[in-house]
Amino acid sequence: MDLSESLSKAHGKLASFKAGPDFSDWAAVPRQIEGVFQTLPGVFSADGPDRGSVLLAKALPAKFGGKVADLGAGWGYLARAILGHPGVKRLDLVEAEADALTSARVNITDERARFHWADATTFRPDTQLDAVVMNPPFHHGRDADPALGAAFIQAARRMLAPSGALWLVANRHLPYDAALTAAFLEHREVAGDGAFRVIHAIKPIRAKP
Ligand SMILES: C[S@@+](CC[C@H](N)C(=O)[O-])C[C@H]1O[C@@H](n2cnc3c(N)ncnc32)[C@H](O)[C@@H]1O
Repeated sequence: MDLSESLSKAHGKLASFKAGPDFSDWAAVPRQIEGVFQTLPGVFSADGPDRGSVLLAKALPAKFGGKVADLGAGWGYLARAILGHPGVKRLDLVEAEADALTSARVNITDERARFHWADATTFRPDTQLDAVVMNPPFHHGRDADPALGAAFIQAARRMLAPSGALWLVANRHLPYDAALTAAFLEHREVAGDGAFRVIHAIKPIRAKP
């Protein structure tokens, strides 16, 4: 579709295009990644796996407890890595963006996976979990919002069994230590590079009654 020149005012943009007989050329065309994954335009890291997620996937434990959640699962890159580890009996993929979850359903056909189109910060699994894995979002709209990542950390705390563990990757500059200290008795960096750090957190702090 050919767009006319755009007219910008404040945060808005206006452009026009010649209409066709139907909307068939509006359909989002899936993209193939590494011959294994499919993504839809506009989802996080649609062109290939995120560098932070690759680091996290490599740092995952050799064996998992049975019940695991992937919060902000996107198109399923981490989910596939998690399911490749022994011990996983069930994996909850929680994702707020419908297109990302649609791609995840295509990419993950494992019957242990359950898909939830939901807000991870309020999602409640039907049982306590052994592990939560996540590369939390750090933007809300156009603005960086570390509070969203902090809310993901609190959500993980609520979902985990007392013996459960959180595996998280984040940009090194994001200030998550206060949130981690408030939610877990112990956390430490287990992998990383100049831009990202992978955190393992254990002993979720029980909420006071
Ligand atoms: C940094 S991306 C990571 C995606 C995927 N896990 C990966 O490693 O490629 C964060 C994901 O969280 C999703 N997200 C943002 N806010 C959310 C929310 N409140 N609840 C659930 N998912 C959310 C985004 O749509 C995005 O797919």
